[in-house]
Amino acid sequence: MLGKSKCRKPKMVKKSQPLIKEAYQFSVAPMLDCTDRHFRVLMRQISKKALLYTEMIVAKALLHNNRKRLLDFDEIEHPIAIQIGGDDPKILSEAVQIAEDWGYDEVNLNLGCPSPKVQSGNFGACLMAYPDVVAKCIDAMKKNTSLPITVKHRTGIDDLDSEESLLAFIDKLSAAGADRFSIHARKALLNGFNPKENRSIPPLEYEKVAKIKQSRPKLKIELNGGLQNQDECINALKTFDGVMVGRAIYSNPLIWQHIDEIFFGETEKKITASIILKGLIPYAEKHLNRNGRLWDICRHSLHLVQGVKGARIWRKELSLKAQNKNADLSVLEEAAEHLESAGL
Ligand SMILES: Cc1cc2nc3c(=O)[nH]c(=O)nc-3n(C[C@H](O)[C@H](O)[C@H](O)COP(=O)(O)O)c2cc1C
Repeated sequence: MLGKSKCRKPKMVKKSQPLIKEAYQFSVAPMLDCTDRHFRVLMRQISKKALLYTEMIVAKALLHNNRKRLLDFDEIEHPIAIQIGGDDPKILSEAVQIAEDWGYDEVNLNLGCPSPKVQSGNFGACLMAYPDVVAKCIDAMKKNTSLPITVKHRTGIDDLDSEESLLAFIDKLSAAGADRFSIHARKALLNGFNPKENRSIPPLEYEKVAKIKQSRPKLKIELNGGLQNQDECINALKTFDGVMVGRAIYSNPLIWQHIDEIFFGETEKKITASIILKGLIPYAEKHLNRNGRLWDICRHSLHLVQGVKGARIWRKELSLKAQNKNADLSVLEEAAEHLESAGL
């Protein structure tokens, strides 16, 4: 038996006073294996307004591999930014054109991923050591699209971690035409830590990012890294042009149920775990019809219910049933009804 949710509503702001106007000002960070199209559709049951990012897609793969599998998304996912990785201006410029033709709203270049695999391809965070190369990439991308070209990077890498080098990096990319900077506010140690450690061990450096914003008030600077809840985002928006949240949303999407009213001034609407699951049913039907598996969607839904009595059993049951390769819509419907009857 599932118990009642203890989820509290955070402090509200008046509906008539949106804190922000543009989608990018509140975004859900790109996360490999997490922010796929199914999770993004789940997020859209919570926020119609926030900017959503794809997982990182290697630019070269877009030129050669199955584009439909890599690029397809549902109309409801707008506004949506594609994140790509690469270091070759020609390939990147072709990739942005493909992304524009596919209907994406923005293109983001990954300059923050420290994984050895990404480094061996010479893209991601290691490119922070090569501002001239990145500037050429941005320039080529800008010339081939009318979409905003944005970048996501760290505060530094290895010994290249001074405020001066960060500012010089940003200035170079800005001169090349980068439209926005999402800064994961910690440096990455490329040979010291694995990607997971690089997301938690180097300390957060909000002050350093704030100084960048103070030095370059005209640039659009978004803060990313460690933001845990809506109040922290409200606070960060006093300094920065936008906030980008990753793990805290993926691991507990429902605590972000008031994004649209708090940040975008939308009318309050009721969002519960069962409403979200029910909202996913038409999408799940389409996915099953194109030979997708129910688990692709349900695996992201498990985090919707936590901190209440019976949550573990509900998650276990949904996992067991949805992982069956023949699982049909009734599994999702039953899971939603179960929650609804518990008032969740
Ligand atoms: C599982 C996972 C996968 C990630 N994949 C990407 C990625 O593909 N591209 C990227 O730029 N950052 C990626 N990141 C980093 C996040 O976008 C974000 O910068 C980082 O988690 C810090 O933000 P947070 O503290 O709000 O989670 C990933 C993070 C996680 C946890």
